[in-house]
Amino acid sequence: MFDVTAIRSDFPILNRTVYKRPLVYFDNGATTQKPKIVLDVLEKYYLENNSNIHRAVHHLSQQCTDAYEASRKTIQQYIGAKKVEEIVFTSGTTESINLVAFSFGEAFVNSGDEILISYLEHHSNIVPWQLMAERKGAVIKTIPMNEKGELVLDDLEKLLTKKTKIVTLGHVSNALGTINPVKQIIEKAHQKNIPVLVDGAQAVQHMKVDVQDLDADFYVFSGHKVFGPTGIGVLYGKEEWLENLPPYKGGGDMIKRVSFEKTTYADLPLKFEAGTTHYIGAIGLKVALDYVQSIGLNAISAYENELRLYLEKALNSIEEIKIYGTSEYKAATVSFGLKGAHPSDVGTLLNRLDIAVRTGSHCTQPLMEYYGIPGTVRASLAFYNTKEEIDYFVESLKRVIPMFS
Ligand SMILES: Cc1ncc(COP(=O)(O)O)c(C=O)c1O
Repeated sequence: MFDVTAIRSDFPILNRTVYKRPLVYFDNGATTQKPKIVLDVLEKYYLENNSNIHRAVHHLSQQCTDAYEASRKTIQQYIGAKKVEEIVFTSGTTESINLVAFSFGEAFVNSGDEILISYLEHHSNIVPWQLMAERKGAVIKTIPMNEKGELVLDDLEKLLTKKTKIVTLGHVSNALGTINPVKQIIEKAHQKNIPVLVDGAQAVQHMKVDVQDLDADFYVFSGHKVFGPTGIGVLYGKEEWLENLPPYKGGGDMIKRVSFEKTTYADLPLKFEAGTTHYIGAIGLKVALDYVQSIGLNAISAYENELRLYLEKALNSIEEIKIYGTSEYKAATVSFGLKGAHPSDVGTLLNRLDIAVRTGSHCTQPLMEYYGIPGTVRASLAFYNTKEEIDYFVESLKRVIPMFS
């Protein structure tokens, strides 16, 4: 049974007040709050077990190494990867994408080649590819979008040319909440032997993801957006791709043998984990993913969908509000503009009413340019939010609206 009251009691921060009233936290797209069991495991490992992994024969190191590798196993199962070696720890989505853009670019991209990126992307799924394209003399092309905030796939066949080396797109848009038809796009790309990277930063906390079912070549996400610690993230890559990519960073733990003449690299996944990783963060991420699975991703999706539709219905009944992102296929994010108001002014006023929302371009400036707006107000929900919070949010918006007319 999905019991939101019990769930909320697992998150200490949700009990705090900001100015006068209890916090209403609708900024989950930026980062999610952490259940106490995640905080407890971080404290326990720093207090009692801390020691660097993979390096020593002593007890503490072995304990940390085992817990770190157990986390890798949990992630493998969480996203349905075939092998544990296909899971690489990074510092987050941004680093995972930079890793692939760099290493894939080094190995496979030449002058005149094309990189196909969706129009809905977060800057961290645009800029790393641009950096690589500049270095390699490659060209960035885009999959266009429509007014509803959906990708337009009519010309996809034509966009996937002989020169296209990789396609990269988000599973769920952070700015609008659109769930992209990634499986369909991957199938089309694979018909032409083109690999696809999926940015799952806004997906893995909302829905069951199965990388084998999607047939994604690379899938990336951040721990902090799925109720885990900051500074830890994941790169999934099919073994055959990861085997064929050169290392991204050099250092300890990613080598087999070093000499001044020639160095050989560690087997997967350590080839991509140079230096001391955020191993205690990885251990915390396991606890977060176990926690999410104990609630159940199907129950989470169903509850969040109900919340989102409830919020959209209420906002649609307010004349001054326009929702951006009206696809039928959406996760729990609602972005909107208020007539005559700059989004940041709306956010500032809502803050005084103890409501945390994100305002601005949400690191998706091309998307905002498409709509011809400076930004939106974004309410991004999580499974610990409630209809009562939405009622208070809508009531607060109604208080704020007259200030702009
Ligand atoms: C879709 C998407 N991709 C990438 C990122 C970057 O994530 P991080 O800052 O955790 O690396 C975000 C963060 O908001 C995001 O929403």
